Amino acid sequence: MMKNVCVIGLGYIGLPTAALFSKAGFQVTGVDVNERVVNALNKGEIIIEEPELPELVRESVASGHLKASTKPVEADTFMIAVPTPIHENETADVRYVQEAVQAIIPFVRKGNAVIVESTIPPRTIADVVAPAFKEAGIDPERDIHLAHCPERVLPGKILTELIENTRIVGGHTPEAAAKAKAVYEEVVKGDIIETTALTAEMSKLMENTFRDVNIALANELVKISDRLGVNAHEVIRLANLHPRVNLHQPGPGVGGHCLAVDPYFIVEKATDESPLIQTARRINNSMPDYVVNKVKELTSALNHPRVAVLGLTYKGNVDDVRESPAMDIVHRLKHDSEMEVAIHDPHVKDWQVPYTLLSLEDTLYEADLALILTDHNEFKGIDSKVWLEQMTAPVIFDTKHCYFTNNDKIELIHLGNTGTKPAPNEVKANN
Ligand SMILES: NC(=O)c1ccc[n+]([C@@H]2O[C@H](COP(=O)([O-])OP(=O)(O)OC[C@H]3O[C@@H](n4cnc5c(N)ncnc54)[C@H](O)[C@@H]3O)[C@@H](O)[C@H]2O)c1
Repeated sequence: MMKNVCVIGLGYIGLPTAALFSKAGFQVTGVDVNERVVNALNKGEIIIEEPELPELVRESVASGHLKASTKPVEADTFMIAVPTPIHENETADVRYVQEAVQAIIPFVRKGNAVIVESTIPPRTIADVVAPAFKEAGIDPERDIHLAHCPERVLPGKILTELIENTRIVGGHTPEAAAKAKAVYEEVVKGDIIETTALTAEMSKLMENTFRDVNIALANELVKISDRLGVNAHEVIRLANLHPRVNLHQPGPGVGGHCLAVDPYFIVEKATDESPLIQTARRINNSMPDYVVNKVKELTSALNHPRVAVLGLTYKGNVDDVRESPAMDIVHRLKHDSEMEVAIHDPHVKDWQVPYTLLSLEDTLYEADLALILTDHNEFKGIDSKVWLEQMTAPVIFDTKHCYFTNNDKIELIHLGNTGTKPAPNEVKANN
């Protein structure tokens, strides 16, 4: 059995993966170019927020099964989990994957498995990764087992989903797929399905594109509902009573480095064939502007209105602000308007953002409008009296449809229902 793993990139994906393999008895070396990550890990600490990960990492490091380094080491299996962002012009930036491949090449031996977990544009294994090995004198078909095994975990539930989700293992050759499957069988309890690298690349991208397109449909419904004076949330609830309909939830935009990024990987490779995907991206990208305009409308009667922003992350209960529409909205509110903006996010640390973060109470203090941009659990449970104590006449604009109150001293407006009264079932207040 293969017992040594070298994981390149110790972020939200690489670190939990490294920790799980070490727990399964593998000797794991985690590699990162960020010395802060490496130094923290060698002390048994982590710098990202993910439930149960701190304990698992502490135990793995203490047991000697997990250590970190800025340089790769020889191993039976190499796993690459480095970022795959987009350039300004919305084309894929696969530089980190290329750098990771170059970094491991001196350590790769015949028979090793090389698995790219990073989300990559279609044909990256065939056109970028395999040729890099070939150029270095390593035959990607015969000497190594090269595969793409994309991740589909939900941040906040990564450790559970890494084990339980069905995994797609796409081999550069059928033998590589079988080898990659054998590696994952050591930790994964879900099904592991073998396919080609290209099919794996495309299936991962279509998963996120499916969600992006469906969120765009919900966001379009928000705009239509505003125009027609109908409650979009009630429309969604009723439409979803159809057994084969699953309208998604609208919001202030689509963020994170997956949904807001991956569709572009397809668009780049098949531009003429992807008008729907491109339109969906445009609709989702238009939402921060839409929210900012609504905030301006809601505060138009005030001079220098004070806006209390609740939530900066791209989704609830995580600490990730990458591509977050909330960051975009805050930027616009601060720069394009006369507003005073105070910000609170219990999951974000000061060093992550260029803003001063305040406590909930200080953020709400004398605010004219509270703007909920993230559906953190902490926000859902805010007691009516907190708003009433801090704000003179509380007005809440909830873009995530996550807060409910039937306190008639609080004006609550949901994105998607800005011009109509709440439907009776919506007043399911917890306070
Ligand atoms: N986070 C998720 O929920 C998620 C889900 C599915 C897929 N993915 C994909 O997984 C990949 C990794 O995502 P992530 O969220 O873990 O990213 P991340 O930014 O959290 O972590 C990546 C790490 O790689 C390091 N790194 C960059 N270049 C390196 C190099 N050449 N050598 C060693 N380390 C290097 C960075 O310093 C960073 O610590 C991306 O392709 C992403 O799209 C992420």
